[in-house]
Amino acid sequence: MNILLLGSGGREHALAWKLAQSPLLTSLFIAPGNAGTASTGTNLPVAVNDFQAIREACISHQIGMVIVGPEDPLVHGIHDFFLDNPELRKIPVIGPTRQAAMLEGSKDFAKAFLRKYCIPTAFSHTFTIQTLAEGIAFLRTLDPPYVLKADGLAAGKGVVICPTMDEAMAELTAMLSDAKFGEASSKVVIEEFLEGIELSAFVVTDGTHYRIFPEAKDYKKIGIGDTGPNTGGMGSISPVPFARGNFLEQVERQVICPTLDGLQAEGIIYKGFIFFGLMNVKGVPCVIEYNCRLGDPETEVVLPRIQADFVELCQAVADGTLDRVEMDLDPRFTASVMLVSEGYPGSYEKGKEITGLDQVTGSLVFHAGTKAVDGRIVTNGGRVLAVTSFGKSLEEALNRSYENAEKIRFEGKYYRTDIGFDL
Ligand code: AMP
Ligand code: GLY
Repeated sequence: MNILLLGSGGREHALAWKLAQSPLLTSLFIAPGNAGTASTGTNLPVAVNDFQAIREACISHQIGMVIVGPEDPLVHGIHDFFLDNPELRKIPVIGPTRQAAMLEGSKDFAKAFLRKYCIPTAFSHTFTIQTLAEGIAFLRTLDPPYVLKADGLAAGKGVVICPTMDEAMAELTAMLSDAKFGEASSKVVIEEFLEGIELSAFVVTDGTHYRIFPEAKDYKKIGIGDTGPNTGGMGSISPVPFARGNFLEQVERQVICPTLDGLQAEGIIYKGFIFFGLMNVKGVPCVIEYNCRLGDPETEVVLPRIQADFVELCQAVADGTLDRVEMDLDPRFTASVMLVSEGYPGSYEKGKEITGLDQVTGSLVFHAGTKAVDGRIVTNGGRVLAVTSFGKSLEEALNRSYENAEKIRFEGKYYRTDIGFDL
């Protein structure tokens, strides 16, 4: 079968690497991909939101399945576009429909869903420009810090945590009155701050059955000791030592099952991945957010641990036969360290030549923001490369990733040297 994978980050390189191992794959196409995905298949110069160009690519390359990496095309209805198009209807899309992707596309929708199906989450209310005064009154009932979330997609920047009431009021006004995040902040969810340790859980579902992927923890802040601004993710580890046994059973019983049952009760057929951003609050798994896709950089540590054939797994999602897929896991730890461009998550330069990739031994290097130019590989994003390693212990996996991270060179290379050390 020919497969088209949409996206261009480290998550997509990890997916492409995994798909390419399957004997069921004939040709893999990645749109638009990066220098790493080019070693697993053919990159196509097609943007993930250009549905017409995706349609043409599917027809000309006789695509038998589309796998969607990022949230944007899902929230904009790529799955529905295929269902509505006679030429494309038979091509399964792995990723939810627009309505199902609302779990990520609208925080207000997600919170209402969580409440309706009694899934643990932070207490919250949603406000608009018309109810700004009520929003401020609601803030006064909460203790600091204050958590404000733009309802819609805001490129990962829509959650603002304010230490004081004054800052929270200013932020709420900026979001609602000044459209700080455009249409995305025309509604704002204000919620209580939860104290605990975060972790990411993932399931894949065919609409009826589900399989749980290994859990992971990502490191979001730019600075050592979890300081400074949030990034897309500076590293990740799996499994998560504090989340063993009983806690994971609780996640399945209190979060995963009621979510899937709720989707069915709403008449939503969800085919794809669900990412649960969780906070372990004194042993209770509270949902911080849903995402309608896999996480990045979690995918770079989760997929290497999954032993199932990924083409077979995706085909089973399409066919509704996920119950027949065995989910054997590699028991070893995986750790990934993200190499980023100087200045990230603020402004940074691109086009720096990357060398030393051929000296890496015993690690997987997933490209996140790279591009091939005249036979050289250059940086092409804030997050550049994810160096993933296996180990019998977390420490062994981390040490291997750090050894190899040092061998890779590009001007302005930065990485956190404390991934996993809090555990
Ligand atoms: P999100 O963009 O939804 O992933 O949120 C960004 C980050 O904000 C999360 O990873 C958490 O660290 C933090 N966060 C979101 N909601 C809460 C909350 N209710 N309490 C504490 N931290 C939160
Ligand atoms: N690692 C968090 C995310 O993918 O949104």
